[in-house]
Amino acid sequence: MPVSNSHLQSLWREVLTLSKLAPHESVVVLTSQTSHPQTLEAATNAVMDLGARVMRLDVPPMRNVSGLGTDPTVIVGETALTGNRAAIEALKHSDLVIDLMFLLFSPEQLEVLKSGTRMLLAVEPPEILARIVPSMDDRRRVKAAAAKLKAAKTMRVVSDAGTDFECSLGEYPLLEEYGFVDEPGRWDHWPSGFLATWPNERTAHGTVVIDRGDMILPFKSYVQAPIRLTIRDGYVIGIEGGADADFLRQYMDMFHDPEGFAISHLGWGLQPKAKWAALGMYDKAQSLGMDGRAFYGNFLFSTGPNTEAGGTRNTPCHLDIPMRHCSLSLDGEPMTVKGDVIPADQRA
Ligand SMILES: [Fe+2]
Repeated sequence: MPVSNSHLQSLWREVLTLSKLAPHESVVVLTSQTSHPQTLEAATNAVMDLGARVMRLDVPPMRNVSGLGTDPTVIVGETALTGNRAAIEALKHSDLVIDLMFLLFSPEQLEVLKSGTRMLLAVEPPEILARIVPSMDDRRRVKAAAAKLKAAKTMRVVSDAGTDFECSLGEYPLLEEYGFVDEPGRWDHWPSGFLATWPNERTAHGTVVIDRGDMILPFKSYVQAPIRLTIRDGYVIGIEGGADADFLRQYMDMFHDPEGFAISHLGWGLQPKAKWAALGMYDKAQSLGMDGRAFYGNFLFSTGPNTEAGGTRNTPCHLDIPMRHCSLSLDGEPMTVKGDVIPADQRA
């Protein structure tokens, strides 16, 4: 459903207020060819409503045409800002960047964050932004889950479909996404509502069965027949199943990069406003699939890079795979059971 300009602007004021935007601060709205014009206008006006200074930085799309499809996550690691020192310096000298382009997983993003600039990514269409407006309650539940994940030494995930996967934890930091940026150097994504970390190197092990109805992003479709992944020493070494498995295998092979088969971030969804069914309601070019990544109780499995965690695995092949009906435990304590969130302080 369409969202009015005034409503979207008021939501931006809400999210920027949660992000502690102060009148003395300066904001850069980063855009490129695919940035949503209504979001650009609403975000820019909301910054001015709050008395802060704002400028727009528009860069042409990157020249890399090796990826298939239109989703910005198809190729990660290289962005339209790669090598553009003037643009990077402008972002570093601002207090807050509103990213309507998609800088995620890039060395440029890490450099900007290290300068203390906070960055908020928002590329979903206005109606998804309006449906999944972040709140302090989202933050509270993600923080409660993060306390558990930070202290954990092991993660185990099982499902009736055949998943039996485990890994050790502690080598990498946490990714806590609750939808706003309330601390210096913080990055977040509106909409979101989940958390993750990366397995210790070469410890991920077992079987992950991507079941019917689970989704693979950026393919943006529901899997029709189970795909069985065999995982040894931190890497996917086997992909078995029907046509969905063939599609997945060919896509990953296309990058000719063994690091694309590494296990990447692992976590669970905590956002009741995000819906499993949403992916079926949009054209593929319309949405990034954040409903899928964040929906309440999903196990978010992923493959590929760890640069976002400060690692050196800068592979362009990244898959997010939100799975239903999984049971995830940390050091034996259940966080989810068959797709439902268990700890009282994480429940919606
Ligand atoms: Fe991801």
